[in-house]
Amino acid sequence: MTLEPQKRTKFGSKFGVVAAAAGSAVGLGNIWKFPYEAGQHGGAAFLLVYILCVVLLGVPVMLSEFAIGRRAHANVSGAFRKLTGNNHWIGIGLLGVLTAFLILSFYFVVAGWSLEYVAQAVSNNFVGKTPADLSVAFTDFTSDTYRPLFWTAIFVALTAFVLLAGVEKGIERYSKVLMPFLAVILILLSIRSVTMPNGLEGLKFLFKPDFSKITPQVMLSALGQAFFSLSLGMGCMITYGSYMRKQNNLLQTAVQVTVVDTIVAILAGVAIFPAVFSLGINPAEGPQLVFVTLPGVFTHMTGGYLFAILFFLLLAIAAITSTISLQEVITAYISEEFHLSRKKVVAASSLLLMIGAVLSSLSLGPYSSLMINGKPLFEVLDFVTSKLFLPFGGLLIALFIGWFYKADDIRDELSNGGKLKSRFFPIYLFLMRYFVPLAILLIFFNELGLLR
Ligand code: PHE
Repeated sequence: MTLEPQKRTKFGSKFGVVAAAAGSAVGLGNIWKFPYEAGQHGGAAFLLVYILCVVLLGVPVMLSEFAIGRRAHANVSGAFRKLTGNNHWIGIGLLGVLTAFLILSFYFVVAGWSLEYVAQAVSNNFVGKTPADLSVAFTDFTSDTYRPLFWTAIFVALTAFVLLAGVEKGIERYSKVLMPFLAVILILLSIRSVTMPNGLEGLKFLFKPDFSKITPQVMLSALGQAFFSLSLGMGCMITYGSYMRKQNNLLQTAVQVTVVDTIVAILAGVAIFPAVFSLGINPAEGPQLVFVTLPGVFTHMTGGYLFAILFFLLLAIAAITSTISLQEVITAYISEEFHLSRKKVVAASSLLLMIGAVLSSLSLGPYSSLMINGKPLFEVLDFVTSKLFLPFGGLLIALFIGWFYKADDIRDELSNGGKLKSRFFPIYLFLMRYFVPLAILLIFFNELGLLR
């Protein structure tokens, strides 16, 4: 059973809807993950495939998630039951809830790192350090037992606090003001980074594609990154869609969110890669890339002390608007399906998520029992969720919309009952029916080596 539509909270203003969905999309995925994935997978070649995935798969899938959520007015799992009247499709919802859990288990850890770096920035810790020193400092910190957990716990608690303040007051209010501020800081950082000696090399790396670098791995990571960054494939946008009002224009919202998300990711790249080349850092360094490179930039910048604090603070804020949306998937599902109070569900899920986060944080330290196939649990969770579960969730959503759900109903939802023009609809339906599923399957098979 799900709550009646009128009993569920809704987003307020139109800007609030975009801000909340963009708040979910823009996060560590853009600023932490995008640069390191691009750095490991050929820079501009990765960016090119990434943008194709965002436009051709991301926008239609996001649109579908909004439509499913708003039509059903229910949590991710209840939504499929409500729309189909049977239980077969709720698996998509359950997979989404599981995925939210797995993502948060490492996402909270990285979010905690951003708080540590706020503290480091405040105590002026980056000054006088070479990139090599910064890299050692990062590894020392992340492989420590207690310090990362302290910050992770704070982050889990903060997220729980916002979640309990409710949708409108919590999620929306926090997203609205702070995201534009983050973009301004990124632009200023980009300017400093590009004007560093040898900075143009970084721009070339990011924007001048070497097509020979487009390998199956590059395609899979760009696909996964697109889903991850846009918060797709696990019902997050279904859940947010369920809080949208009938008069919101879903296509416009999806396009705006996608554009904002992509701009922020590219800005993060422009802030990071020129500095990477200027400071002689290896672009393929992995998850530590941002945490080593940007402190290097701050030390070369007038007002760097202040910028460092602001940047990591805003990174933490971008992260919390995403953790909220992830945990909201779990919260809405459990509280609606099992008739439990949000308070209880948030408390219990936070505890469970903290356990997941502890395990993934410890896997980066001396706890080799937390390795799977020689890889720390942290990395495995990152890999499994963005490269397998999210695209797979997207595939199922495409099959649902393209082949199962009535096209007229989806058209009705996307056009707000015929009030909006829906000239885009045939293209959208073509993409969802044929292109999205085939593209995802081909990328999967190609990566597995089945196409050679
Ligand atoms: N999109 C968020 C980010 O880029 C992460 C996220 C993934 C949020 C999936 C919700 C769902 O940081």
